[in-house]
Parts: sequence; C-alpha cells; structure tokens
Amino acid sequence: MKSIALIGFMGSGKSTVGPLLARRQGRPFFDLDSIAERLSGKTVSEVFSGEGESGWRLWESRALAEVVEEELPFVLACGGGVVLDAKNRDILRQRFLTIYLDVSEAVLIERLRRNKGRPLLAVAEPEAAIAALLKARRALYEAAAHLIIETDLKNPTEVADEAQTAVAKLTGA
Ligand code: S3P
Repeated sequence: MKSIALIGFMGSGKSTVGPLLARRQGRPFFDLDSIAERLSGKTVSEVFSGEGESGWRLWESRALAEVVEEELPFVLACGGGVVLDAKNRDILRQRFLTIYLDVSEAVLIERLRRNKGRPLLAVAEPEAAIAALLKARRALYEAAAHLIIETDLKNPTEVADEAQTAVAKLTGA
C-alpha cells in the first residue's frame, strides 16, 4: 500500500485536508515543511533569508527522500514548491499515490491575501507573484499527480471525503 502525498499551490488546503484524510485512512500524517524545518534546524523564513530559495529546495528534497523511507504508509502534505525538482516529481509518481489539490487563481488570491510566513509572497505585488508561480507550476503539479481534485467550491471535509473515495476506487480498497 502506497503512502498518499498531497500537492498543490500554497493555500490549496494540503495541511488542513491532510490530517482529515489521514484519519479516514487510519494512517499517520506528516508535513514536509515541518520535516525540512527539523532537518535544517530553522524555520522556512530563516532558511529563505539565510540560504535563499535554492537552500530551501535542498532541505525540502532531503526531507522527501527521508520520509519516503518510512516503513508504514502515511499521508504527507507537501510544500507548494516540491514539484520544481524533477527527482521529487519522480518520487511522487513512483513511491506515492499523489493527489493535486487544484485551486483557481482568483480563489488563491483571496485566500492568500492575509498571507504571513510565506517568503515567496512577501513581495510588493503578491497577486502578480501568485499568477506567475501558478503559471510556471500548474503543469508540474499535473505531471506529478495521479489524481486531481478541484477544490474551489469545497470545504476541507468535502475535499477529504472526495480524496478518500477516489483513493478507494483507485486502489480497489
Ligand atoms: C513554498 C510553499 C510553502 C513552503 C515555502 C515555499 C512554495 O509551503 O514550502 O514557503 O514554493 O510554494 P506551503 O505550500 O505549505 O505553504
């Protein structure tokens, strides 16, 4: 039985839906940002300011390489940029059942308006940053995913229920 990875843009609900889905699956929940923070001994913001985005990507990839070796299946919420690395995308395709939580640009802009603690959006024009990042990443999320769930009009419980049903169908469980 494969572990489940949730991917998608910042603000797509991975960290909220993840624990709900983990409970339905009877599996532990892990958060990739938290694992990378533990490995680096710093917060995401501290890594970005000290080592830059490329530094964060290294910790994120190390965290994925570490967590994938867990013995029992689990549910993992990934950081929004995990798909930028081709090796990470391979791991997500091969070692996980990966679900992309898809959100429209308009909904993301609304949700991320009061963003705090996300260095990539701590810029003069966060809306433009969201649009550019989404444009660059959407195809990568789609390439890494086995399942795509549209989440715009759904609350986290509904998304977790849909994910649970889709996983059951896919795995014949
Ligand atoms: C990032 C997303 C963040 C975190 C870091 C970079 C990204 O995680 O990993 O700020 O590049 O999209 P969340 O998607 O959990 O906010």
